[in-house]
Amino acid sequence: MKRGQRPVVELSQLLRVPIVGAPMAGGPSTPHLAASVGEAGGLGFLAGGRLDPADLRKQIRQVRYLTERPFGVNLMVPQCQPNLELAAPAWLAYRAALADDAVQVGAALPARPRRDDDDFAGKVDTVVAEGPAVVSFTFGLPAIEVLRAIQSVGTAVWATVTRIEDACSALLAGVDGLCLQGPDSGGHRATVHASDPPPTVPLESLIAEARTLTKLPLIAAGGVDGPAAVARLLGLGADAVQVGTLLLGATEAGTHPAHRRALGANAVYGQTVVTRAFTGRPVRAVRNDFVARHDSWAPALYPHVHHLTAPIRAAAADAGQSDLLGVWAGTGYRAVRETSTHRIVDHLAAAARHWAPALAVA
Ligand SMILES: Cc1cc2nc3c(=O)[nH]c(=O)nc-3n(C[C@H](O)[C@H](O)[C@H](O)COP(=O)(O)O)c2cc1C
Repeated sequence: MKRGQRPVVELSQLLRVPIVGAPMAGGPSTPHLAASVGEAGGLGFLAGGRLDPADLRKQIRQVRYLTERPFGVNLMVPQCQPNLELAAPAWLAYRAALADDAVQVGAALPARPRRDDDDFAGKVDTVVAEGPAVVSFTFGLPAIEVLRAIQSVGTAVWATVTRIEDACSALLAGVDGLCLQGPDSGGHRATVHASDPPPTVPLESLIAEARTLTKLPLIAAGGVDGPAAVARLLGLGADAVQVGTLLLGATEAGTHPAHRRALGANAVYGQTVVTRAFTGRPVRAVRNDFVARHDSWAPALYPHVHHLTAPIRAAAADAGQSDLLGVWAGTGYRAVRETSTHRIVDHLAAAARHWAPALAVA
């Protein structure tokens, strides 16, 4: 494709089976995981959030070294940042409340909140230069010029949305596909502002409503715990299903061992909940002691609370102290099994033997 042309992206070019490996920042997404999902017939993703542009470039090139299959890159759109002078008292109060936890695991907390746009512009330049098959966005969409710059190199742009209003805006902006994220999804959801309450609209309704708006690819995400869930979401009109939590158990994933141990059939924690306690932005995670103590009053300051709790979470992971760990997971967390990516994708795709990709035209 020549520069300047809009891509025509057919799902059949990207997928042999209707499984998309979810981007999972913070370690679980690795080049090996993305390549293995692709080799199994799905579409693998790298998570660009919280990586610097040079590392993202390295990871993209590593996937290309490992596979000739297409893959995607996910980017987190930077937030409208609060005035840090006004926000500092709430952040400092939360910091004081976390002091005992920090001492318990020997973590040093930052002294002040700091500005951080995750070097978004640098990562946009990286994806424009490298041209992966798909770039997906979470936490909103960037400016139209950014979308067009990415599309101009033949890369399809997908928007991750949790509400039909955001799906409409994304379609008007000219995206090439939608990732519809339901309330059972693990990790952060694609709400635009950290202070937005995460919508509770069931994934089923989101798929049905979005299908009335567009023939573009609809990728359904959230709470997948096995092949029956995949079959159900495809039956409701999704073109493919995005799987995150189940891939946390994949051999090729970079999931921390302490995170892995908190998932699966023998998981000690009885439920997942949506909480701001770890990052200031709603995230679905297992309800451990940290969540129980801090959920009710963590300030909605993202990514400032993320940077505040990160040293505690990292030290807790290394110490195997799961009560202070951020165990991001969807409601299907008990179905996580330690096995190869190939087996996970094959097992899920068995539910979709008669699947035929939509003819999706951008
Ligand atoms: C550990 C973890 C990290 C995640 N990181 C990201 C991310 O960087 N970008 C993103 O768009 N979604 C992220 N998500 C959400 C997933 O992409 C996906 O939508 C979600 O995992 C689907 O729900 P499931 O976990 O129930 O399968 C993350 C989810 C998890 C569990």
